[in-house]
Amino acid sequence: MKVLVIGSGGREHALCWKIAQSPKVETVFAAPGNGGLYGMADIVDTEADDIDGLLKFALSEKIDLTVVGPEAPLVGGIVDVFSRHGLRIFGPDKRASLLEGSKIFAKEMMRRCNVPTADFSVFDDYKKACGYLKSADMPVVIKADGLAAGKGVVICRDVDEALANVRSFMVDKRFGASGEKVVIEECLEGEEASIIVVSDGVNVVPLASSQDHKRIFDEDKGPNTGGMGAYSPAPIITSSLEQRIMKEIIMPMIKGMRQDNVPYKGVLYAGIMVTKDGPKVLEFNVRFGDPETQAILPRLKSDLVDIIERSLDGDLKGFRLSWDKKSCVCVVVSSKGYPGSYEKGKIIKGLEKAKSMEDIVVFHAGTKKISDGGKEGIVTSGGRVLGVTGLGETIELAINKAYEGTSAISFEGMHFRRDIGKRALRHSGIIL
Ligand code: AMP
Ligand code: GLY
Repeated sequence: MKVLVIGSGGREHALCWKIAQSPKVETVFAAPGNGGLYGMADIVDTEADDIDGLLKFALSEKIDLTVVGPEAPLVGGIVDVFSRHGLRIFGPDKRASLLEGSKIFAKEMMRRCNVPTADFSVFDDYKKACGYLKSADMPVVIKADGLAAGKGVVICRDVDEALANVRSFMVDKRFGASGEKVVIEECLEGEEASIIVVSDGVNVVPLASSQDHKRIFDEDKGPNTGGMGAYSPAPIITSSLEQRIMKEIIMPMIKGMRQDNVPYKGVLYAGIMVTKDGPKVLEFNVRFGDPETQAILPRLKSDLVDIIERSLDGDLKGFRLSWDKKSCVCVVVSSKGYPGSYEKGKIIKGLEKAKSMEDIVVFHAGTKKISDGGKEGIVTSGGRVLGVTGLGETIELAINKAYEGTSAISFEGMHFRRDIGKRALRHSGIIL
């Protein structure tokens, strides 16, 4: 079988790595991939949002299965286009992708399905939004309706900050059309966790739980990033809490989408806040999480291609995945300056050494292969550069493994958090 993986991050490296292990798979193609994929996948020089280019490639190569990493092509309708041409592709179609593509769609769907989430109001009129904010309880959360590369959510501590943000979204159009409409919602308190499931439109199979670390610096300081590390399982998600999330959140959403004639097939990612009143939804994503996937897939013993095919065939009823009991921790290594501006082209040393270490996998994200005077090497080419992932019998051992991996690697300006997994240690009672 020929499988095409779309995207270029750490998540896509993890997907290619796992898919390449399937006995059903002959060749993996990665479009556009990254520097870590040489030898594992054939690199296709087409960007993830070039739906026409990807279609041409998939048709000419007779690709048997396409797996989409990032949200943009899903929200752009790649599943509809590929399906019209008779190509098998894993993910929700354009309408179902609105669960991530439009926060208003997602919130209204949750309200209709009685799914617990923060109280909210929707505005398409700047003046009305301002009027509402002047008498709202603070803090509030302001969200651009459309995709904003993970930057469209702001927690505002006071009215002035809230007014400045709606202005920047709705009047200055900081995110273009994505911010013309906004959701203003109650700020939830608690601990975040990610529940990622695969659905065939009716049935659902949960993946292992995980948690990521969004801020750039230790102790959750500094600006939000795409994610600086993750671990799986997440001790906060006990099996009774997982059952509750499935019953109160995931199943009602899948049922509601089906009843609205928008059946949801693919990966559904629920960002959950575990509040004192129970689990509430912060957001839905229509794809695998990054870096959660890098911490989840090394624990998956089952064949990923099998579950994907079952989702496409509507055959997930009663299906269960098999997991390694070990814990897994992914430490993201980034370029100096990220999530602001950063330099590229720094030579990365120690990759071979880290790769040869037991129970360590190094997933690449912003890396590029270069050859200089006959010598080949890997250089940085993005903000998040690597996901150094360690497996261990306990979360503590997995953390130690991942950091053993990072200590083998170096490049100019290399940054990573030193406290990935610390929250899990607190839950497990290992530290206070
Ligand atoms: P989103 O893009 O909706 O996932 O939001 C990004 C991040 O903003 C989440 O992971 C949370 O950390 C935070 N967030 C979003 N909504 C809320 C909320 N209602 N209350 C508190 N934090 C929130
Ligand atoms: N780790 C958060 C996300 O994938 O959106």
